[in-house]
Amino acid sequence: MSRNILLLPGDGIGPEIVAEAERVLARVNDRFSLGLNFDQALVGGAALDACDTPLPEDTLAKARQADAILLGAVGGPKWDALPMAKRPEKGLLGLRSSLELFANLRPAILYPQLASASSLKPDVVSGLDILIVRELTGGIYFGQPRGVRHLENGERQGYNTYAYTESEIRRIGRVAFEAARQRNGKLCSVDKANVLEVTVLWREVMEDLTREYPDVALSHMYVDNAAMQLVRAPKQFDVIVTGNMFGDILSDEAAMLTGSIGMLPSASLNSQKQGMYEPCHGSAPDIAGQGIANPLATILSAAMMLRYSLGEEEAANAIEAAVSQVLDQGLRTADILSEGTRKVSTREMGEAVLAAL
Ligand code: IPM
Ligand code: MG
Repeated sequence: MSRNILLLPGDGIGPEIVAEAERVLARVNDRFSLGLNFDQALVGGAALDACDTPLPEDTLAKARQADAILLGAVGGPKWDALPMAKRPEKGLLGLRSSLELFANLRPAILYPQLASASSLKPDVVSGLDILIVRELTGGIYFGQPRGVRHLENGERQGYNTYAYTESEIRRIGRVAFEAARQRNGKLCSVDKANVLEVTVLWREVMEDLTREYPDVALSHMYVDNAAMQLVRAPKQFDVIVTGNMFGDILSDEAAMLTGSIGMLPSASLNSQKQGMYEPCHGSAPDIAGQGIANPLATILSAAMMLRYSLGEEEAANAIEAAVSQVLDQGLRTADILSEGTRKVSTREMGEAVLAAL
């Protein structure tokens, strides 16, 4: 069986970290005879520079054909002044919505080896294992109408629309309930139902789903409280389900609990389990081109890809074990460096994972 993997390195540190993940994938491809074929395309700022659009037709066509996509990161100061429709981020958002990748899974797992890299006390984060399920193709990111308009008094007003249909809420809810069922059976739905009608409906639909999942304990939390609880006592959470924007914010926060956002992978899936996999972090323009970025989030995203879109559990486990092994060896990129460990470059980290494989 042959499967097509599309690599979208993107901008900033994207090309450096995707290169390492590609080498890791090539290695497991040989070792486990996975039949993976690799192709590459442009997205984000790189695509803007070459084709004047952040999501060229060719890239979208290849993405539709692919069994799975591995993306680095998009964006950077070079393109910050462009109008909204021409921003690199539109490439990423366009891929998410064109492929209907509505279910974004962002695990935040603390590797025991990195407990001291977290800014929180070790006892608060040790053993941390939470999964944020973020709705990715709706909510305020995509709601219409949106824009900047001129008011009669001559002032300009910026506006966006926060809207969710019942079916959008139900399908992300089901993904979260299923995930909770596979884990510890606890699901916390995060909303702002004390202020926003859209999340009153969100809460109602989540509550309704408990009839299908009587074995899962559902709770609700306002987003401001959730942000606080995540740093106060993060281990109270198992699975969190929330909308697009709250999920964007809370997943960065959860990532940092684990020591570095440079460690966290993510999966964005549609209803056919086709998926795009990317590190949770951004393009880090400040360190791009220096060869010091942490490639592990991207390498772990490749592992998620093998597991969720390709059904290659064994190969996924091998990659995850290899990552754990290099951490045991005390190898650290700058973002996770702590006393008694050895600083390595992006390439050296990739080499170490390959060696462990
Ligand atoms: C993320 C990123 C994106 C988002 C940006 C780059 C558009 O922050 O994947 O979390 O807001 O979804
Ligand atoms: Mg984000």
